[in-house]
Amino acid sequence: MSKFFINGGNKLNGKIKISTSKNATLPILAASILAKGKVVIKDLPNFSDIDIMLKILSVIGCEVKRKNNSVIIDNNNIHSYELPSNLTKEVRASIFLMGPILAKFKKAKVSYPGGCNIGSRPIDLHLNGLRKLGAKIIEQHGFIHCDGANMKGNTVTLDFPSVGATENLIMTACITKGKTQIFNAAKEPEIVDLANFINAMGGKIKGAGSAIIEIEGVNELTGVEYKPIGDRIIAGTYLIATAMTGGKVELENIKPQHLACLIDKLKNSACNIEAKFDKIAIHSTGNYKALTSIDTHPFPGFATDLQAPIMAMQTLAKGTTIITENVFESRFKQVPELIRMGASINIKDKMAIITGQDTLYGAEVKAPDLRAGACLVLAGLVAKGYTTISDVYHIDRGYENIETQLAKLGADIKRI
Ligand code: UD1
Repeated sequence: MSKFFINGGNKLNGKIKISTSKNATLPILAASILAKGKVVIKDLPNFSDIDIMLKILSVIGCEVKRKNNSVIIDNNNIHSYELPSNLTKEVRASIFLMGPILAKFKKAKVSYPGGCNIGSRPIDLHLNGLRKLGAKIIEQHGFIHCDGANMKGNTVTLDFPSVGATENLIMTACITKGKTQIFNAAKEPEIVDLANFINAMGGKIKGAGSAIIEIEGVNELTGVEYKPIGDRIIAGTYLIATAMTGGKVELENIKPQHLACLIDKLKNSACNIEAKFDKIAIHSTGNYKALTSIDTHPFPGFATDLQAPIMAMQTLAKGTTIITENVFESRFKQVPELIRMGASINIKDKMAIITGQDTLYGAEVKAPDLRAGACLVLAGLVAKGYTTISDVYHIDRGYENIETQLAKLGADIKRI
């Protein structure tokens, strides 16, 4: 089991190319089974969730060939509407295949998905949405059995703008007869990317990125070559790291509008930020005042996936910050570890009250989940002395070689 060993105190300087978004690529891979013809996904990010998704596609009959950084998916011989439960349990994103399989075969059998342990993460919104489209769904013995023989377009109103439920509904409706409208849809950039991908295959989706998405079911989608967007959460993490350590870093392959809320906050923290078409440059002295209040919300609000990283930053801010986590219920797992490093944080229900300190101290800590793990890396970069982070496999699920990237920028960090 690898660990990160960090000697804190170095400023970050240089350029970094942000890798392709995992959260955009996973539903795009799922939607690729809808095409008649080969789909090529370029600049595939290198994560275990992506490998598992591709394995699931192979098991159900797709021919999956990786070539350099691309993957070519040929679903000509896809034969199974049952997802392999040993693999689906390993990755939450396997639930993205439920919609496309149901739309393609008019049947699906899937088991409940796995994934990061950040709350109950139910799938009721996915299932109720599919029911609205006419699917009959029975949940039995840990499996979800779907019958889509009578599916047709309809209006679906989501109780909460769930990213995954919106994606599943788009993927189902795009080849289901009739018109579907999704009200209170998620507006995340990954939703827009999925709609762009499906439209490039011949789909008819309008309004992605707004609260109302309209989908006209088409008979057929065709193969396409596509490059998903850059990863806004990785980019946001490096921006926060630079803001904390001080230094000057330029990020490439990232759309500034995908990080507008964070950029605004960092500007309020006396960081100098220049945003161009697909680049963001940040310059920070490492001295900043507390942001007072940060509330996570669905996009375009402050991303829940950046809540733990920004908490690391606030532990050293001048003043007090209240962070309110509104999206997931178990997302403060970094707090006991940050306290070990000298942070002052009190939790009250879904609020964390952080009183900025002058110094954090290196310690032995453990990554409790993906984003909480990234938070500890950031804390280690500025802590006095050595920090050892164990269970870094969590961090590897969302950051490609974070230690190599940070070391290139000047951090003293090693994987041991
Ligand atoms: C996606 C992202 C994840 C991010 C999250 C919110 C991927 C692979 N993962 O997760 O990184 O943190 O969006 O931006 O893209 N909910 C229900 N019922 C449902 C579905 C969701 O109650 O059927 C609740 C969840 O418990 C959670 C909230 O809605 O409290 C948001 O979940 P959702 O937007 O669906 O997140 P994911 O798609 O799982």
